[in-house]
Amino acid sequence: MSDSRIIIALDFATSQAAQNLVERLDPARCKLKVGKELFVAAGPDYVASLVDRGYDVFLDLKFHDIPNTVAAACRAAAQLGVWMMNVHALGGRAMLEAAREALENAPSRPKLIAVTLLTSLQDADLAEVGIVGNTQQAVTRLSGLVQDCGLDGVVCSAREVSALRRERGSEFVLVTPGIRPIQAERGDQARIATPREAIQNGSSYLVIGRPITQAADPLAALESVLNEIDSI
Ligand code: C5P
Repeated sequence: MSDSRIIIALDFATSQAAQNLVERLDPARCKLKVGKELFVAAGPDYVASLVDRGYDVFLDLKFHDIPNTVAAACRAAAQLGVWMMNVHALGGRAMLEAAREALENAPSRPKLIAVTLLTSLQDADLAEVGIVGNTQQAVTRLSGLVQDCGLDGVVCSAREVSALRRERGSEFVLVTPGIRPIQAERGDQARIATPREAIQNGSSYLVIGRPITQAADPLAALESVLNEIDSI
C-alpha cells in the first residue's frame, strides 16, 4: 500500500507490454489502473500478479448490469486483492447498494467508486437517451445518489472536481483522469488539467496514462509529476 496519489493507466494490449513498464516502476511511487483492454487480454491472474508485487490496483471495469450480477462481479474482483474498483452510477440505486454490500465482508475491503456520466457524452447525447438536464446537472444528481448509496466516491473530469468537492465533502473520493503535465501532448483529451490544478481543486487521485506510459523516460515523467504535486 502506497500513499501515492498518482494512478498510472496501464493501457496496453498485452501483459508483456504492460510488464515492460511495471518492472521499472516502484509500488511506493504510484498505483496502477487496469482497464478493459488489458483485463481482456491478460486476465485476472495478471491483475493478481500486480497486487503480489505490492501495487495498489484500481480495476477499472465499470460494471453495469442487474444488481445480482454486479454484486457477484464485485465479489470476484475483491478476491484479486484490488485496492479500488468501479461501477456505473446509471445502474441505479439497487445496483449501487448491491455492489457496496457485496464488498462489506471482503478481507481488505476495496474502495468502490462510480462513473457518473462518461465524459464522452455531451448535452445532446443525454436528451437522446432520455436523461433530464445538462451534463453538469446529471453529474451533480448522480454523484449525490452514489454518496447516498454509501459508495466511496466517483470518477470525475477536472472540470467537475471543484464543485463536487464542495457538494460532497472532504471524505468523498474524487478520481480524475484527463491530466496533462504542462509540457505533455494533449492527445484526445479535451477537458484537461495539470496535476497541480487537479490536486488544488480537490482531486484525491490522478489517473495518468500516456504522459507517463508513452514518455521517452516514464520514470522521469512520473517523478516530475510527483515533484509538481509535492510542492503544493
Ligand atoms: O492516456 P490518458 O492519460 O488520457 O489516460 C487516461 C485514462 O483514464 C485512460 O485509461 C482512460 O480510459 C481513462 N478515463 C478517461 N476519461 C474518463 C474515464 C476514464 O480518460 N472519463
